[in-house]
Amino acid sequence: MQNCYILGIESSCDDTAAAVINNGHILSNVVATQKIHEEYGGVVPELASRAHQQNIVPVVTQALRKANIDKKDLKAIAFTRGPGLMGSLLVGTSFAKSLAMGLNIPLIDVNHMQAHILAHFIKEKDQNIPVFPFLAMTISGGHTQIVLVDDYFEMKVLGETIDDAVGEAFDKSAKILGLPYPGGPLIDKYAQEGNPHAFPFTKPKVGPLDFSFSGLKTAVLYFIEKETAKNPEFIKENMADICASIQFTIVDYLMDKLKNASKQTGIKRIAIGGGVSANSGIRKALKDAEKELGWETFIPKFEYCTDNAAMIAIVGELKYKNNYIAEQDISAVARLKF
Ligand code: KG4
Ligand code: ZN
Repeated sequence: MQNCYILGIESSCDDTAAAVINNGHILSNVVATQKIHEEYGGVVPELASRAHQQNIVPVVTQALRKANIDKKDLKAIAFTRGPGLMGSLLVGTSFAKSLAMGLNIPLIDVNHMQAHILAHFIKEKDQNIPVFPFLAMTISGGHTQIVLVDDYFEMKVLGETIDDAVGEAFDKSAKILGLPYPGGPLIDKYAQEGNPHAFPFTKPKVGPLDFSFSGLKTAVLYFIEKETAKNPEFIKENMADICASIQFTIVDYLMDKLKNASKQTGIKRIAIGGGVSANSGIRKALKDAEKELGWETFIPKFEYCTDNAAMIAIVGELKYKNNYIAEQDISAVARLKF
């Protein structure tokens, strides 16, 4: 097969990323994660744009170097158009436009949410690729959605969060417990040693396929305030049980939604993506569902789950091969829909 090198650029939130793909195979996948936000306990948009501005040239240069190609070998440039933080998106968008114009090659716009889903089509050894139609749940610090995927570019959002994203539920709960940002992986770590039924939290009630997490955060806050008023050492003495209980509630809630979607559509192929797919609780629950419900489940390699440019590159390739090319006057859209 002829080489078809495509560069993907991602800058929607706080990761500056670039990747090179060739016929479905990722040749390089470079991510510069912005550490600066840790001290603020969340992403600061203004600082994110500035860091993207500093990182984008070295990150793209490194991606080309690792792929061992010259920029003149590129067939097209794909970039994240949205959704995301406007200042962050503008850095990647402007850079991609200039590079495509300078090299006189096609420019391809990519929807970040579609990219999380199409990351499942990156070719990797020992990795199963889902057959259409399938259900995709994207769970991260920025998004929580369940999508019906009929084809590469035929997707329908079946349900989504009405307030916080699931990653935020993990991170905000962790903050209440005095854990550093992002606290999701730490909750997961402590949860391994704890009893998931020690402290029952109520699962939020919204539509069958939608999500709400703000109530859970408040419930955790009130619970911790009440218990530490009685015993100031409560958190320290019960960290594992508290984390296991929070994690159990969140995972059970995500699984409820997936089961509802599967029942409603009759589809048993379930794919997940986004940073929260690293969670050991959701991974175990999906494995159990394979046995108990006959599901076939798909989780991409972790580096393709968190925000990355490999997923932008695969969409770029799929669009390039279908001749979906963007105009040079295209602009970033913070609330881009499917
Ligand atoms: O996809 P991602 O890297 O960035 C975006 O938010 O788009 O996801 C980061 C989120 C954070 O909220 C982080 O706490 C959460 O994923 N996360 C986890 C775990 N690993 C990452 N949450 C629970 N358990 C984990 N093991
Ligand atoms: Zn994302």
